[in-house]
Amino acid sequence: MTLFESAVRPVLFRVGGGDAEKAHEFTLARLARLPGPVRVAMKARYAVDAPVEAFGVRFPNPIGLAAGMDKNGVALPAWPALGFGFVEVGTVTAHAQPGNDKPRLFRLRTSEAIINRMGFNNAGAAALAARLDKLGPIGVPLGISLGKSKVTPLEDAVDDYLTSHQLLHPYADYIAVNVSSPNTPGLRTLQDKSAIADLLTALVGPKPVLVKIAPDLTEPAIAELLEVCLSHGAAGVIATNTTLARDGIAPADRSSAGESGGLSGRPLTERARKVVQFVHTETGGRLPIIGVGGVVEADDAARLIDAGAALVQLYSGFIYKGPALVRAAAVSARRGLTGVASSGASSGVASSDAVTGAAPSDAATGAAPSAAAPSAAAPSDAAPSDAAAAAAPSDAAAGRTTGTR
Ligand SMILES: Cc1cc2nc3c(=O)[nH]c(=O)nc-3n(C[C@H](O)[C@H](O)[C@H](O)COP(=O)(O)O)c2cc1C
Repeated sequence: MTLFESAVRPVLFRVGGGDAEKAHEFTLARLARLPGPVRVAMKARYAVDAPVEAFGVRFPNPIGLAAGMDKNGVALPAWPALGFGFVEVGTVTAHAQPGNDKPRLFRLRTSEAIINRMGFNNAGAAALAARLDKLGPIGVPLGISLGKSKVTPLEDAVDDYLTSHQLLHPYADYIAVNVSSPNTPGLRTLQDKSAIADLLTALVGPKPVLVKIAPDLTEPAIAELLEVCLSHGAAGVIATNTTLARDGIAPADRSSAGESGGLSGRPLTERARKVVQFVHTETGGRLPIIGVGGVVEADDAARLIDAGAALVQLYSGFIYKGPALVRAAAVSARRGLTGVASSGASSGVASSDAVTGAAPSDAATGAAPSAAAPSAAAPSDAAPSDAAAAAAPSDAAAGRTTGTR
């Protein structure tokens, strides 16, 4: 157990009186205000150099932040500092919208899982475009996830996605088409053959477009969708979103299991890996895959890569394990990519042996990145040589984010 799990997380889970969403907002605001020198010191400490290339984009390491954590891109510079090799913002919609009624976010702690029914609460595509314009590049590739506004009828979905796409594609290294959230009525029907064909026809163009799919699709439905992806120029697939299934929930969490919404975290690990494997086999490796779902241990990342993923994202694992998981997963994935932990089936990926990051033993212990006292104070002008000290308060801030969903 890392210090994050034993000392930091319990504190973080009490932030906001235990209200996961309040604590999350508080934490994002703190992360957004991290001083530049602190971010530099954190990055030197956490970031693992394990470059990969996929769909024409070069990534410093294959571990990304999954969509939904920073929907409006308010804390963008913090994520590379926490070791992420890419960031997916959103999901955003053409119209700003409040999302579903609260409460809508539930921790299932014993299961290392989350149920959410946020419903694409976001400030809208124009607001994100303005923020990205002001911010400039963040130093790692940026994916932008697009969804359908709730007020837009399903038959007008293409125009809705197109509005967001036109505003945002100049800032994106790739576009994620989210047709798999369970929390917008009817959205998942856009995974049907003709709907996804229409969407891809409209959106494929200036930037790589990836389609994010649900883990609840049957294999024949996935196969049909993949055919359309291949024939309509999709650059890849993101597998998977949250599940409507409730398998794998610990008895202690049964009271929350009845909440409606999408389930993520450890109960999703096996299903996500199977979907990644199916997509890889079905396409013969022709469609690069971002594997996401239930990466809660470092080796879960290597297993997704082994199953055929080019890149890996995490969300729930970050909540429960903190930034140590990002670094350890990158090290684990790198081992997978270089054939030590896997047979190395990675579609559309070029890997590099250039390794300047953590030694594998760091990954094994998972200790260093999150082992910081939450109460430590940081001088805002911390010199790089103060990396450990400077990282401490950031760990606390980061931990608040990770611990508050
Ligand atoms: C609170 C929450 C909000 C999410 N919001 C989005 C979203 O807006 N768009 C999206 O594509 N996925 C969203 N997701 C799904 C994640 O990106 C990811 O696919 C899923 O949680 C599985 O990964 P995990 O097990 O690592 O959490 C959300 C997940 C959670 C827990």
